[in-house]
Amino acid sequence: MKNFKDRVAIVTGAGSGIGAAIAIELAARGAHVVAADIDLASAVGTVTKISATLGNARACQVDVADAPSVEQMVAFVVETFGGLHLAVNNAGIGGPSETTANYPLDDWQKIIDVNLNGVFYGLKYEIAAMQESGGGAIVNMSSILGTVGWENACAYVSTKHALVGLTRTAAMEYAGHNIRINAVGPAFIDTPLLTKNLDTETIEQLAALHPIGRLGTPEEVSALTCFLLSDNASFITGSYHLVDGGYTTK
Ligand SMILES: NC(=O)c1ccc[n+]([C@@H]2O[C@H](COP(=O)([O-])OP(=O)(O)OC[C@H]3O[C@@H](n4cnc5c(N)ncnc54)[C@H](O)[C@@H]3O)[C@@H](O)[C@H]2O)c1
Repeated sequence: MKNFKDRVAIVTGAGSGIGAAIAIELAARGAHVVAADIDLASAVGTVTKISATLGNARACQVDVADAPSVEQMVAFVVETFGGLHLAVNNAGIGGPSETTANYPLDDWQKIIDVNLNGVFYGLKYEIAAMQESGGGAIVNMSSILGTVGWENACAYVSTKHALVGLTRTAAMEYAGHNIRINAVGPAFIDTPLLTKNLDTETIEQLAALHPIGRLGTPEEVSALTCFLLSDNASFITGSYHLVDGGYTTK
């Protein structure tokens, strides 16, 4: 189903996990994709996978916490592929596990810079490029922690809640300009962000929090994200969609 044929897409955090899965699916469905990541080697790895299946992709290094870097990323997309129609502001980081009163100031600031400011910078430059391209669709990667709390993660939870408000506001502003903007809220997904520092027992405990009884996969988050980017979602904007194995039913 090549329903992104001739569309130009950018995915941040595309070197790993959810972002890599989205970049691969967009390319498989016909989009020209820029895979952007602070870790250029990982973005090149995603591009190599896409190229192996005859998809069209280029890698780009970006630090989403740095506005000029994000502006350059968007300029690179437009120079490389002639416009911008689809964007996924996905790059994000976790942070230390610590109570709010003890949360380190520098970690708080870093998480705000990447997870919240990074998405704002993305929207700022992507929207301008999409207006030049006749419109488009954007997905911001929130979390179930955009709607419920999680102990010892005040910075992460705050950023993911904030992304929902940012998404709704930008969506209202650009609905009349043929740009749809939505947020996706995954539960616990089997990616390096989650699993690199956790032992098997902890991962099993997390899996049990989902009525479906397991962690989600990056491909399951990609399926929802790509639906929201597609013309099949033409009447959907400003909303926050969960992909959570039933986590928030409890
Ligand atoms: N894995 C989960 O359980 C889960 C659940 C809900 C939401 N999310 C969100 O999904 C998104 C992707 O997470 P993931 O699990 O795939 O993580 P991941 O760690 O596998 O991938 C994140 C990618 O973002 C990149 N990145 C980090 N900081 C960056 C920066 N400043 N600029 C550019 N790139 C940067 C990393 O290099 C990495 O390649 C994040 O926003 C995360 O908060 C993840």
